[in-house]
Amino acid sequence: MVYSEQKLMATPDQDKSFPFPPGFLWGAATSPTQVEGHIENEWTQFTASDGGNCHIACDHYHRYPEDIDWMSRLGLNAYRFGIEWSRLQSAPGAPLNPAALAHYVDVLDQLRAAGITPMVVLHHFSNPPWINARGGWTNAATIACFEDYVRKLVAALKDRVYLWNTFNEPDTYACVAYLMGGFPPHRKWKLGQFRRVVENMARAHVKASRIIRREGLAGLKPQVGIAKNWTFFHAYQNYSLWDRATAWVCHYTFNKFVLDAFLGRWRRRASTFIGLNYYGRVRFHHFRAMIPASGTPIKDIKSFGFVCDDMVERYPEGLEKILDYLHRKFRLPIYITEHGAASDDEPFRELDLQRNLQALHRSMASAVDVRGFFYWSLMDNFEWQFGYTKKFGLLGVDFRDAKLPRTMKPLAEVYSRICRENAIRAAQPTVAED
Ligand code: FCB
Repeated sequence: MVYSEQKLMATPDQDKSFPFPPGFLWGAATSPTQVEGHIENEWTQFTASDGGNCHIACDHYHRYPEDIDWMSRLGLNAYRFGIEWSRLQSAPGAPLNPAALAHYVDVLDQLRAAGITPMVVLHHFSNPPWINARGGWTNAATIACFEDYVRKLVAALKDRVYLWNTFNEPDTYACVAYLMGGFPPHRKWKLGQFRRVVENMARAHVKASRIIRREGLAGLKPQVGIAKNWTFFHAYQNYSLWDRATAWVCHYTFNKFVLDAFLGRWRRRASTFIGLNYYGRVRFHHFRAMIPASGTPIKDIKSFGFVCDDMVERYPEGLEKILDYLHRKFRLPIYITEHGAASDDEPFRELDLQRNLQALHRSMASAVDVRGFFYWSLMDNFEWQFGYTKKFGLLGVDFRDAKLPRTMKPLAEVYSRICRENAIRAAQPTVAED
């Protein structure tokens, strides 16, 4: 769907380019439930708002060799993906399933052969069924189970992986599963459970980090961090006390509380990097979140003049702000572990990418240490409660065709050029009204 009436126009100094440092990682990201298919976790029985499910998804579990070829064609030098816990352990303390482990070893070997650096995510919105049956992350006993899993996994993969991303967006997971009811186990307004999930995950992160750093030392020198989703929450009208209060509560709960839990005081030492997932902003008007993802009608959003993709408001200047904040506060290297836009309007997505990469470049020029950027997502996939309606992919996937053919989208050509040149061009698209 098209939300912007914006067009791209090249500027005259089109050929000037802004380089990134040598060795900068240019990647794409996915998660197991969204792309692999054939998975047994809490999402298996889930039906999304479009009637879709994750049973086959992109069949990446079987088609990873082809997908790695696509990554090479795109010129990526990095890939962020998850290893699915539910495939590897069938009970607390169980040995890792050899076939599933062999699968991921092969994925890693094929990535290495293609010169692509892996970043492995350990938890991305899903748990093994036996963990869910015991209350998931509301139960502190899950921490020890996770530790056991991580110890075994790191021992098996330490020669192949050095970038470990423990938890993906604990804030989103705890919020949508325990406050908004959108993710399994579909709880609503359970603030106590929300807090417990975040706190248990934060403790598990500290423990996993110790294991990864100790075990991993015998292999490649490990780096470890979480991926924090950062959304800006603002009031549309500053004089509206209620909207300001709503924005403040959201900021406090999803940004400050979660960041403090994972990185506050001595816990900062548990991370060697910060992963930042950045999409944009949510503005409130009369308590309503003015974004498509919360169901606000597009015509209302448009009447405010907000630029949104199919999910949230775009706010590229926010990327610079949050990078600067994280850099000053924590003094840790940063990876942009996710950024992307969902839309059928490819020029719009190109504009969004350009603007966000310009913001990134400006931050790095002002000494913020960013080591890599992962586009969300490598391909169109199962977008949780929204099913297959949100098109985030660099590659398109035709879900009506049983063979699930992948195709290169126009944005992929643009991103591919950036990855190969390790630079963005000055051909800054300027915005023109229709
Ligand atoms: C992030 C999630 C990812 C995907 C993108 C659009 O919050 O980590 O799985 O849903 O948003």
